Amino acid sequence: MSHAPVGVFDSGIGGLSVAREIRRALPAEHLLYFADTAYLPYGDRSTDWVRNRSLTVGRYLQELGAKALVVACNTASGAALESLREHLAVPVIGLEPAVKPAVRDSPSGRVGVMATVGTLGSDRYARLITAYGGTATVVPQPCPGLADAVEDGLLSGDELDRTLAPFIEPLREARVDTVVLGCTHYVFIRDAIARALGPGVRLIDSGGAIARQTERILRERGELAPEGPGSLRVLTTGPAAEVAEVAARIWGDPLPVERVDLPREDPLLTQSHRGTEKAGE
Ligand code: DGL
Repeated sequence: MSHAPVGVFDSGIGGLSVAREIRRALPAEHLLYFADTAYLPYGDRSTDWVRNRSLTVGRYLQELGAKALVVACNTASGAALESLREHLAVPVIGLEPAVKPAVRDSPSGRVGVMATVGTLGSDRYARLITAYGGTATVVPQPCPGLADAVEDGLLSGDELDRTLAPFIEPLREARVDTVVLGCTHYVFIRDAIARALGPGVRLIDSGGAIARQTERILRERGELAPEGPGSLRVLTTGPAAEVAEVAARIWGDPLPVERVDLPREDPLLTQSHRGTEKAGE
């Protein structure tokens, strides 16, 4: 038994889709969620950059007492999972696009994968396709800017539909019957994606699988939280009020959001406009 929190991190609030699955599976756990909003998006950054930053965040959550680290970001998992496992003392649970079940269950063998440029360009993704792609036609669809749109609170409506259109068109042309949501942000716009793809297309993500994996690992280590209501605390490197506003909309309830300054250990780590303009740094 352990009262220590489970650290969960993403470049922004997208990983709350994973935190939600963990809360469902493990309601007694205390979750310490880290949104690296000042540096979002990770998806357009280099592998080295994402690896360095993920290590900085992972070490920080470990220092705050996390008993395990859930990397609730496909991009960070693709770039940094091995390094995190090498450098952290706590178990690290990662995420990958749900290609395996998508290929297995696709009636036509035509599957689309919506994800960031970083995820689709990673060695981990290439290995995933080699291992599980089989004879299926797997159509990778990079969606630059889409995680930003979700982060800005664009969750439905015409503007979102217009933003989605160029990413959906190639998938419709390829006549895929299954689409993998390979970025944790996209789970929050699942309805708009489903509508744009049209009827009969199944959407699949990895949130449930990562929650089951988290449960398995904590159980094996004897570190599940004892009975009692768990909690969710959100830390962000971005502007807390704005993050709290969108987080409450996607979560369905207000969430406590605190701003933290996580030092830049590497000169490569330049902040995005979210950190500089909105947080006034
Ligand atoms: N939510 C992240 C993922 O699952 C990516 C968002 C970003 O580009 O920062 O890949």
